[in-house]
Amino acid sequence: MHPPAGSDPRPRAPGDWDVDAFRAAGHELIDWAARYFEGIEGRPVLARVRPGEIRRSLPATPPEQPEAWKELLADLEQRIEPGVTHWNHPGFMAYFGITGSAPGILGELASAVFNTNGMLWRTNPASTELEQVVLGWLLEMCDLPRDWFGQIVDLGSTSAVLALAAAREACPLLEAREDGLSLHGTPRLRLYTSVEAHSSVEKAAILLGLGRAGVRKIEVDDRFRMRPEALATAIEEDREEGWTPFAVCATIGTTSTTSVDPVDALAAICRREKLWLHVDAAYAGNAAVAPEFRHHFRGCSEADSYYFNPHKWLFVPIDCSVFFTRHPDTLRRAFQLIPDYLKTSETDAINFMDYGFQLGRRFRSIKLWWVIRAFGVDGIRERIRHACTLAQAFAARVDAEPRLERMAPAEFSVVCFRAVWPDLGPDETDAANEELLERINRSGEVFLSPTRVRGAFTLRLAIGNLRTDQRHVDRVWELLQAGIDG
Ligand SMILES: Cc1ncc(COP(=O)(O)O)c(C=O)c1O
Repeated sequence: MHPPAGSDPRPRAPGDWDVDAFRAAGHELIDWAARYFEGIEGRPVLARVRPGEIRRSLPATPPEQPEAWKELLADLEQRIEPGVTHWNHPGFMAYFGITGSAPGILGELASAVFNTNGMLWRTNPASTELEQVVLGWLLEMCDLPRDWFGQIVDLGSTSAVLALAAAREACPLLEAREDGLSLHGTPRLRLYTSVEAHSSVEKAAILLGLGRAGVRKIEVDDRFRMRPEALATAIEEDREEGWTPFAVCATIGTTSTTSVDPVDALAAICRREKLWLHVDAAYAGNAAVAPEFRHHFRGCSEADSYYFNPHKWLFVPIDCSVFFTRHPDTLRRAFQLIPDYLKTSETDAINFMDYGFQLGRRFRSIKLWWVIRAFGVDGIRERIRHACTLAQAFAARVDAEPRLERMAPAEFSVVCFRAVWPDLGPDETDAANEELLERINRSGEVFLSPTRVRGAFTLRLAIGNLRTDQRHVDRVWELLQAGIDG
């Protein structure tokens, strides 16, 4: 029974605080967040701490007695902030830039307020249904097949496991779910992906019992795209040697260079060979919102599973990966296991726990819903275009500068490049570029990350943060020039 309104002199909010204390603390936290954003450019983007420094600055044992909110907030500012690498800094151009946008941050807060576990439809009908609606919006926004089944998971690594588990389940010669993979006579499964694919594909294979030997990496062409004819040959060779090919993982937007596998050609091979086609579009999948990038996605509508990460380039705070498949029944067959304590009477509702290995489910759709609504699809498109325009202009500058060399095509918002010195050999050039990158990053104004392209040490400028603008990219250019000049 609900107590009559006003009967409790100190209504409770979470954490055993009364509602007024919660409200006041919440306002202070938002004020802190606003201050953080206002001053973010004054902070070094890459944390300037030594390993162990933050840990040593904190008490090793928890407080026995309650501490005041003011102390909690003060410690966040004084002890934690100095040890944070600021991914929300406009100078953050490392890895894949991400953004905690205002509506996304508030969406995280709203989801924490409800604090639900949407494992079953009935444990939060709104979470299940909002997720279905927003994923339908994403399919529409990216011009992907509207009838795909989708769900939000934490990370791309989880999406890879779901995809390959479903692919394994679809393999007709195997009862991996019931028998495992160690039964005598179990086929040796083989998965194909390019040498440029993300490590999460191989990790998923390790987790699913295929082992690293179960992953065959296919060579790429001069634009770092999987070569379809090399794939076809590998499948043929493997069949002759007794392997059971079962899946191909293509990538749109590889991690090092953002290269794009020819999904249409790979789809034709998968159709012919009856293999599951999974597409990892973790980063670049977000660009499909803008029609001028859709040519990169040709063939994706034929995928058996597909995912991308709105937490990478759709301004949704980490974590938020969206996984789609055209075969929800296969996915459910791989994972559905309903103990007595989770049985429900709704037969016409989706229980997301049936479609993955995780039971619990955060209410992640709110942040995605709010970001799409607050920016509008057109607003999102414009921001993706802006990032690509900045990157393309930087690539053109690199191309025009004889002391720099571009290492890969810039398909989206990432540019791979390095400096060249006429009298240095390959090893010395690598070392000098490594030092150049360190020097740029020591400025504290920007942060770039490295990769290797055809074995050569390469600098990588990745634009994905909403706050990154021309002047930040200009600053990279100035630091680069100064660094080359020594
Ligand atoms: C192409 C690609 N796939 C998968 C991942 C893994 O994503 P997550 O960190 O969400 O697991 C990444 C991360 O950068 C990626 O670039």
